[in-house]
Amino acid sequence: MNSFNNSSSKNTFALTTPLYYVNGLPHIGSAYTTMIADVIARWHRLCGDDVLFVTGTDEHGQKIQRTAEESGVDPQLHCDRIADSFAQLWTKLNIQFDRFSRTTAKNHEAIVKDFFQRVWDKGDIYLDQQQGWYCVACEEFKEKRELLEDGSCPIHTNLKAEWRDEQNYFFRLSRYQQQLEEFYNSYPEFIQPESRRNEVLNFVKQGLQDFSISRINVSWGFPIPNDPNHTIYVWFDALLGYVTALLDENDEPSIENAVKKWYPFDLHLIGKDILRFHAIYWPAMLMSAKLPLPKQVFGHGFLTKDGQKMGKSLGNTLDPIALLDQYGSDAVRYYFLKEIEFGKDGDFNEIRFVNIINADLANDLGNLLNRSLGMLNKYCGGILPPITGNDISNENIPKRMGETLKSNLFEGYKLYQFNGVCESALNLVRSCNKYIDESAPWSLFKKGEQKEVEKILYTVLESVRFSAFVLAPIIPNISNKIYHQLGFDFDFNNKDLGVNTEFDRGHFEWGILPLNQDLPKPFPVFVKLELPTTES
Ligand code: MSP
Repeated sequence: MNSFNNSSSKNTFALTTPLYYVNGLPHIGSAYTTMIADVIARWHRLCGDDVLFVTGTDEHGQKIQRTAEESGVDPQLHCDRIADSFAQLWTKLNIQFDRFSRTTAKNHEAIVKDFFQRVWDKGDIYLDQQQGWYCVACEEFKEKRELLEDGSCPIHTNLKAEWRDEQNYFFRLSRYQQQLEEFYNSYPEFIQPESRRNEVLNFVKQGLQDFSISRINVSWGFPIPNDPNHTIYVWFDALLGYVTALLDENDEPSIENAVKKWYPFDLHLIGKDILRFHAIYWPAMLMSAKLPLPKQVFGHGFLTKDGQKMGKSLGNTLDPIALLDQYGSDAVRYYFLKEIEFGKDGDFNEIRFVNIINADLANDLGNLLNRSLGMLNKYCGGILPPITGNDISNENIPKRMGETLKSNLFEGYKLYQFNGVCESALNLVRSCNKYIDESAPWSLFKKGEQKEVEKILYTVLESVRFSAFVLAPIIPNISNKIYHQLGFDFDFNNKDLGVNTEFDRGHFEWGILPLNQDLPKPFPVFVKLELPTTES
């Protein structure tokens, strides 16, 4: 089913990545969530939707305070530097976010205070004694049974949880047990994928406990209104960074102003380690503040290296900047979207990375275009023949595959089956390579069967065009090059392309390549990558 938006009233789509901790330089794990969010945002924009894509940084709390102290830098300066490095990475990765929310931004404090007041007025905040094991890297209290034998948490195995016994303000999460359960039942698509939903349902079933939303002895954060000895817990503060991001530049910072346009969010994209915060705490906080809930939380898997979660705290990360400098943004985006089933864990291996990119993008896709443009020059004087999709038999295999791809495309992106989308586009490409070999246009040309030759070349070039279109949210630069070679003046990096009234919706279909289009001289759209000399 087609679902691009060609009506005068636009659909809106607001999505977020997590706000990343600034305790260290960004790593490939944070880049992963952001890449996916960017692909989703680009797809919606291409379909004509009005999109707001929020990312940003989470800058308060003990973890950041300690990191800044250890490096002897003023915490704000530290945050500024790291937030900057995130923004630089997003440029290199070709991420088109709309808002960058920083929890140390001026207008954020007003939003946090406004929200705190709403929850306070509801009677959902009280003072009590907090005793428990705290993992500073997770910024979360852990049950003793959750910790490993040496006292560290399973995610941050190099860091022991710390014992805390202090007065804290608490949020009455337990009060929302029933309301949350009813909500999960009424909106089964709220937590995705299914396995994460089950995880949350099981956790909630065991009975929800109130959680503390203030800390003492942590100065880096906002003070609790009327009790400045306490600092607002970093998660309570950070989740609200999503709301702050919705303020327009000249808005007075209030919840009322923030939620007037894009709210509620359509999608919070997160990793599985922060599922409870987004799928349990956050909705309960919003219920307490009498605000509508987001439509979906998707918890993806971890990128691993040697089977262990890559992360700043473990120090086993892959440097995304080095990867991007060496291989470019499209290659990196394609690998992570195609090779990892979204929702599941996935391992990165550089040799595998190079092999896949070379096989798919350089050999299959790039060569197909070059090869067929070469034949077009030789057999048709470099001009697209006067053929349309209707002239191609319905039994023609690439045509059939193109039409199937068209019907599955919307569902594929909607259900975040990016690996399936890539696979289907590449299967179409591969079928064309086979089709050329089997139909041997060079022999047909020699026999004078010009019309047949033209049909073959039309079929193949149209299939390359369609594959490039389908993959444009993932590999926009390569898709641009392919489109240019086919004679289009197109820019898939133009955020307004899909909402432009001139944009021809036919691009979502197989069989629209314009006729008699004069084509530029062919050039390789993707140059093969070199294998690394030593495996890292
Ligand atoms: N600051 C919080 C989020 C607050 S949102 C209001 C936080 N930050 S984080 O920097 O530690 O992690 C951000 C995201 O990166 C999480 O979704 C986490 O799952 C993801 N990743 C961190 N390491 C990862 C991998 N190795 N693989 C995939 N994603 C991982 O949590």
